[in-house]
Amino acid sequence: MRPTEPFRREHEELHGHLAHIAEAAREVARVEREERAAMVARVLGFLNGTLVPHARAEEEVLYPEWARLVGFEDAAVPMVHDHEAIAERIERLEQADLDDVAALQELLYGLLALIEVHFRKEEDIQLPAFDAAPAELTQGVLERMQAAAGHAHEH
Ligand SMILES: [Fe+2]
Ligand SMILES: [Fe+2]
Repeated sequence: MRPTEPFRREHEELHGHLAHIAEAAREVARVEREERAAMVARVLGFLNGTLVPHARAEEEVLYPEWARLVGFEDAAVPMVHDHEAIAERIERLEQADLDDVAALQELLYGLLALIEVHFRKEEDIQLPAFDAAPAELTQGVLERMQAAAGHAHEH
């Protein structure tokens, strides 16, 4: 088992929610306003309740540690730019007119693409550095990540 497996499992859970964003992006055009509102609210609930706290914990814990591991202070800046682009679209989705289906679809598809490629970068570029680092360091980072995201694994 790779040392970062718990973090990868957390991402797997998040990937499941991305399927709901994809479904909402497709369906908002076909459903009544009330159902559309519920779909957007559900997506926003995931984004604000789960994804944003996860991103905040990364900026606090994972990214600075990763920058130290790769030996370049600004290494994680592009990852923070991704978070900012995602946050900006979340804000626009919160303020979007529910009758403007084209705008809702643009935002949902945009969020989906940004989040998917962002996860891929974390999994393929950042986590291998932690798998190769001393086990104690990686364990400490994972524990601090869970504490910072506010949902420590209780098993
Ligand atoms: Fe992230
Ligand atoms: Fe992440």
